[in-house]
Amino acid sequence: MCGIVAAAAQRDVAPLLIVGLKALEYRGYDSSGVAVLDRGAIRRVRAKGKVREMEALYLADPFPGGCGIAHTRWATHGVPNEANAHPHVAGRVALVHNGIIENYIRLRAELQARGYVFTSDTDTEVMAALIDERIGQGLNLREAVLATVRELEGAYAIAVISRDEPGRVVGARRGAPLLVGLGIGENFLGSDAQALIQVTNRMLYLDEDDVVEISRDSVQVVGLDGQPVERAVHESELSSDAVERGEYRHYMQKEIFEQPLAVANTLEARIGPHGVLPNIFGIDSDGVLEQVRGLHIIACGTSYHAGLVAKYWIEEYARLPVSVEVASEYRYREAVVPAGTLFVAISQSGETADTLAALRESRRRGYLGTLAICNVPESSLVREADLKLMTRAGPEIGVASTKAFTTQLAALALLTLELARRHGLDPLRYAALCAELQHLPRAIENALKLEPAIIQLAGEFIHRQHALFLGRGAQYPVALEGSLKLKEISYIHAEAYPAGELKHGPLALVDEDMPVVAVAPNGPLLDKLKSNLQEVRARGGRLIVFADGTAGMDDMAAHGTMLRVESGGSFIAPAVFTVPLQLLAYHVAVLRGTDVDQPRNLAKSVTVE
Ligand code: M6R
Repeated sequence: MCGIVAAAAQRDVAPLLIVGLKALEYRGYDSSGVAVLDRGAIRRVRAKGKVREMEALYLADPFPGGCGIAHTRWATHGVPNEANAHPHVAGRVALVHNGIIENYIRLRAELQARGYVFTSDTDTEVMAALIDERIGQGLNLREAVLATVRELEGAYAIAVISRDEPGRVVGARRGAPLLVGLGIGENFLGSDAQALIQVTNRMLYLDEDDVVEISRDSVQVVGLDGQPVERAVHESELSSDAVERGEYRHYMQKEIFEQPLAVANTLEARIGPHGVLPNIFGIDSDGVLEQVRGLHIIACGTSYHAGLVAKYWIEEYARLPVSVEVASEYRYREAVVPAGTLFVAISQSGETADTLAALRESRRRGYLGTLAICNVPESSLVREADLKLMTRAGPEIGVASTKAFTTQLAALALLTLELARRHGLDPLRYAALCAELQHLPRAIENALKLEPAIIQLAGEFIHRQHALFLGRGAQYPVALEGSLKLKEISYIHAEAYPAGELKHGPLALVDEDMPVVAVAPNGPLLDKLKSNLQEVRARGGRLIVFADGTAGMDDMAAHGTMLRVESGGSFIAPAVFTVPLQLLAYHVAVLRGTDVDQPRNLAKSVTVE
């Protein structure tokens, strides 16, 4: 989960590479660097910290050169410092890497035994050293890369330049994304389309084990056996405006406010006056959906929380059994797969290593089929799943997921309705749920109007160290998501519980210093939740209740803060009640002065295990 960008052009490329890196900072931002071939020499600049730190060094001493590689890092092996920052140089070679080399200890020891002296603690440097060694034995750059990657275990996307071959960049990928940007008289490599959209919208996506060589006027892709392979060219629909922050203070705030449109886009042309439209999961989806007798949903982080909401929905409306599991657990245990089970992977990026590995693992477990719910059409997850439903959230730059979550819920609501219709949900009830779902963009728009009240509320959290989030039923995953948002960007320790679980332990934490945030829309569980909140009140806990406009919760207001949210109905309530929790986390983080879009120790896309 680092970002790579590389270029072969006539113009000087370092400034282009730095622009590309800034678009990739969501993938990692603890150090960065650029290396360029300049008249037979490798010129390099690296710095700890954000890309702007490295850019300042570059601007103080700029260098020319039409062929180069660049990297923004999320540390796995070796602390974030200049020595461990990429590009790594070994002899005549400079290399950048995203991924983890699992057999690097053995390779490192063998290189040391042959006299190579390492200058970093990374797993990456072994690749640079091996490639340089092979060029020394007479291979050209592409041959040396091929010979080296055949020896690697683990995941990598790399870009390499060699002093001996000016004007050429060689890239390779396995288990980490890499694509080619096709310009006019110049070509590029990047970890994603966002990194290259400033220079071209024509992209060529590499497959697993592809090796590519680019120069100003050529692109050649070969397989691991060195034989040429063809990869299709795509026109990316990404616009460079979509990755601008505009009038907003942070990407996260912009993305929170984009939710009505993002959700409307996700629903567009997929649900109409008579319900969910045919074939929205792909033209061959009908036969598969007809046979579904249960679902296994696999995801990580926020996407996992979306899966948990879907479990409540699908079990209630379609009466099908659903299990939801985090991908890093699922992939290493022997799950039982009853006949007729659909495997569903949810991911914003479609490149999360654990989720992808789980999808690949599912292939040998006898599922009925696989479905990807994802935001990136060209991602590995989408390319590898049988059925797909794109979430059309647009690029999400803030590390904390916001519009990705609500659009995932919109997509999962469509799946719920489709399955419910096939499994005998009463047609009137089906029609009512469809109407509710179509109201979701408007309901989110209304919830966003709470921002001024939430800004007031956020002040109460500035000096808190801990917070509890409570919900019941499908609002329990919403509480989980609210607590993840708060801890992720404000660094306040937050936990979420199903409210009925409070008395089984966590109640011991409650005193006047403990804010307790409750998600309390109208519904059959509201009275139960109220009793749970009385338990908090009796211990002097500070209640912050988000209640439905129609719920009788006035007595709670006397013991804390109550904000009214118009849920728009109990089906869509989880998506609607998520919004004030996102705003709360955002404004608490702003007041605490944290790095909202790039919180410490995290990265947007976790492409390593
Ligand atoms: O791209 P994915 O949806 O697969 O990412 C999964 C998680 O890494 C992600 O949701 C993470 O938890 C977010 N930073 C949460 O805000």
